[in-house]
Amino acid sequence: METNCLTCAHGQSEDLKKAAEILASGGLVAVPTETVYGLAADARQGEAVRRIYDAKGRPNFNPLIVHVSDLERAKEIGEFDEVSSLIAQNFWPGPLTIVVPLKREAGISDAVTAGLSTIALRAPDHALSQELLALSGLALAAPSANSSGKISPTSAEHVRGDLGEKVDFILDGGETRRGLESTIVKVERDDDRELPIIICLRPGPITVEELEQVSGLKVLSPQLGIDEVGKSEGDESHEGTSRPIAPGALLRHYAPSVPLRLEALEVRSGEGLLGFGPQDTSEMQDVPFFNLSEVGDLEEAAQRLFAGLHWMDKQGVTGIAVRPIPHIGVGVALNDRLKRAAHSA
Ligand code: TXA
Ligand code: MG
Repeated sequence: METNCLTCAHGQSEDLKKAAEILASGGLVAVPTETVYGLAADARQGEAVRRIYDAKGRPNFNPLIVHVSDLERAKEIGEFDEVSSLIAQNFWPGPLTIVVPLKREAGISDAVTAGLSTIALRAPDHALSQELLALSGLALAAPSANSSGKISPTSAEHVRGDLGEKVDFILDGGETRRGLESTIVKVERDDDRELPIIICLRPGPITVEELEQVSGLKVLSPQLGIDEVGKSEGDESHEGTSRPIAPGALLRHYAPSVPLRLEALEVRSGEGLLGFGPQDTSEMQDVPFFNLSEVGDLEEAAQRLFAGLHWMDKQGVTGIAVRPIPHIGVGVALNDRLKRAAHSA
C-alpha cells in the first residue's frame, strides 16, 4: 500500500521553498508529519491562523497544536516544568503533544490557543516537516488537515479530496508512517499530591505505559476531557459555550459517512468489513473488505485505519462492520478513534 513520494529530491527542495514562502505571506500549507497531514499556518499571524479555522469549519474555541523543531524552540513558547521537559527529551521528535503554560511574550496569535493560558506543542518526526520548520524559521500552527468532524488525512490525496482549493499548497510526503494523531498530555501538580501526575488528554501512538516508564509517574486517562469551565460534551460543530481544552471532549470526530458497528463478529447485508488479523473471506465475495492488518499487528492497523475508513467511504456500503481490536498498546488509541467514528453516525 506504500505510495511513493511524488516529488524527486530536486522537486522537493523547490516545493519546500514554495511552502515556506506561502507560509511567510500568511497562506495555508498542508504538511505531512509522521502521524497525519497537518494544515499549517504561521502561528504568529492571526489572520493566517483564522484561515485554518475557516478552511476546516472548526469552531474557534477549539485550540490548535503548534509545531516546532525541538525542545529548545518549544521552550521559547511554553513554560516547561521538569516532567514536561523529560518526556519531551524522550519522545521528541515524535508523536507526543505536550500542553504547557503559554509564554505571552512569544507572540503566538490568540486564535491559536483560543484564549487559553496554555498551549499544545509538538516536534514532528518527519523529514519534510522538520525541513519546512528549519527553512521557514516559523512556529507552525497545524491541526489535522481535514474538515472538522471528518476523517483525518494520511495521504496528500486525502487532503486534496477533502479540502481541495481551501489549501494554498500541499507538500506531498506520501503516506504517513504512524497514521493516528499524536498522544496529547498535560502535567499537573496539585497541593494534595506529592508527585505530579500526567493527564492523557488524547490516546495516540505513544502509549500510557511508555509515558509511565519514562517518567516514573502515574498517567491518568479521563474518558472525556475535563474542561476548565466544567465537563463538556458535544461535537466539533457544537455551538455551546463550553470550551473544550481536551480533545477528548469532542465526540464527533473521524467520521465516515456511514455507521460503524464495532466488535462485529458477523457482516450484515450491505456492510463492508474492516478486518483485523487473518480473515476467512470465502463467503464474502461481494463484501467490500479492508484488512487493517492481516497479521494482527496493532502498529500496522494504526497506520492503515484512516486510509481504510476513507476507502470504505467510497464503496457505497450502508455500514461498516469492524472486527474486535485488542485494547492494548496503540490498540487503545485505535479503539478510541473507532469509538468516536461509531458515535457520530
Ligand atoms: O498528530 C497530531 O497531533 C496532528 C498533526 C498534524 O500534528 N494534529 C492534530 O491536531 O491532531 P488537531 O487540531 O486535529 O488536534 C489537536 C487537539 C485538539 O483536539 C485540541 O482541542 C487540542 O489538541 N488542544 C490544542 N491546544 C490545547 C490546549 N492548550 N489544551 C488542551 N488541548 C489542546
Ligand atoms: Mg483533528
